Amino acid sequence: MRHALLIASAGATLLAACAANQAGTGQNVTSADAASDDTYYLRAGMIEQINPPTEFIWNMQVEVMDDYGNFDSALMTQEHWANLQDQAQLLAQASQRMAEASRYVAADPDGPYANAPVGTDLAAIQQRLDASTPAYRALSDNLARHSERLLAASRAKDAALVTQLVNDMQPTCKACHDAFWYPEEYQNQP
Ligand code: HEC
Repeated sequence: MRHALLIASAGATLLAACAANQAGTGQNVTSADAASDDTYYLRAGMIEQINPPTEFIWNMQVEVMDDYGNFDSALMTQEHWANLQDQAQLLAQASQRMAEASRYVAADPDGPYANAPVGTDLAAIQQRLDASTPAYRALSDNLARHSERLLAASRAKDAALVTQLVNDMQPTCKACHDAFWYPEEYQNQP
């Protein structure tokens, strides 16, 4: 079941991953970095920094998994391990940066992400961010800690632990999305 969910989730965001990979992950100065003060523009952060390494890792899992969806060290080349380490490190750095911000803004009104897709209500998200900044920071910190464990496991080339941590990544994302992105959908509110 978890296997099926994982693949569904990897497939659903494959297009985003391709676009992000073409743009180059993590190396460019991005609008998420460009905040001059300690403000974190989270839509830019999600699109440019948090999502690309995650997608890369999920897509790699599909490529190198055994019949049970586990990372199979027999299918992992040196390049796979090196890429996994790089992407886990990017995710750890990006989520740490998010955790350390003092102020969260859904989207920079003058930036490229001010027009969110249908279903993303930036004003409602901003209200939740302002009302619950410490909770947002704590959920960011959870992701940072989780990514650091994944980085350590990938450096140790521990395929079983990598599998466990990658499988548990999506719930770490979802915990924050459920609370800050679209709680209406989950709480049956208008
Ligand atoms: C601490 C909170 C938090 C965590 C943790 C988090 N997100 Fe998000 N994410 C948000 C919020 C809030 C939004 C809605 C605003 C937006 O669209 O960017 C969002 C939106 C997104 C979007 C949609 C971006 C868009 O608008 O097109 C993607 C993709 C995404 N997150 C990926 C991830 C992934 C992958 C992870 C886990 C590795 C993750 N997020 C973890 C808060 C979080």
